[in-house]
Amino acid sequence: MVLQIPDVLSQEQMARARRMLQTAEWVDGRITAGHQSARAKDNLQVPEGHPVARQLGEMILAELQRNALFVSAALPLKVFPPLFNRYEGGQSFGNHVDNAIRSVAGASTRVRTDLSATLFLTEPDEYDGGELLVEDTFGVHSVKLPAGHLVLYPASSLHHVRPVTRGARLASFFWIQSMLRDDGERTLLFDLDTAIQRLTVDVPAHPAAVQLTAVYHNLLRRWADV
Ligand code: NI
Repeated sequence: MVLQIPDVLSQEQMARARRMLQTAEWVDGRITAGHQSARAKDNLQVPEGHPVARQLGEMILAELQRNALFVSAALPLKVFPPLFNRYEGGQSFGNHVDNAIRSVAGASTRVRTDLSATLFLTEPDEYDGGELLVEDTFGVHSVKLPAGHLVLYPASSLHHVRPVTRGARLASFFWIQSMLRDDGERTLLFDLDTAIQRLTVDVPAHPAAVQLTAVYHNLLRRWADV
């Protein structure tokens, strides 16, 4: 499932992020790439653990924790501390798959990357190109979202970022280890949760909502690792 999550950050938070990223240090993005993806990758990144990345990352994670759509879709167990990248002057990231396991710098924590997330930090009209293209069994999804919006997609998918030929594209990117390793099971629970929410709005207090909620939790109990 490729899912867009709108308005993860407010306008004020976006402005703060842009201000702080202007003062941050930027280095070659290949430092966090795996062997194959290092050859495909051409962009800049704020170093992992840099104070700006830490502060903005905490702000993003706090917003995601109270974002009902994100929690329902990702069922997050662990989230890798958000990183920040920039593409400009023709930079791109060729086709690759993200590393399956990520170690958090300076900690003993490891994250299995079930889901990849990109949070757009520049408006689409500020740059040309820079689309994120994600392949799945339905074809190729082209994603270029307003600033403050996030896209969530299975980390198992091949994906690439098209060259940025005008302006600069700023984004935050990170990975999520879900309580449900399997994308198909996770999507079923997300669809079931969405249907229950609609039912409880359209037909309040219908007894079937309780039964369906029980089914949701019993499937979650059966499939989740915590
Ligand atoms: Ni990637």
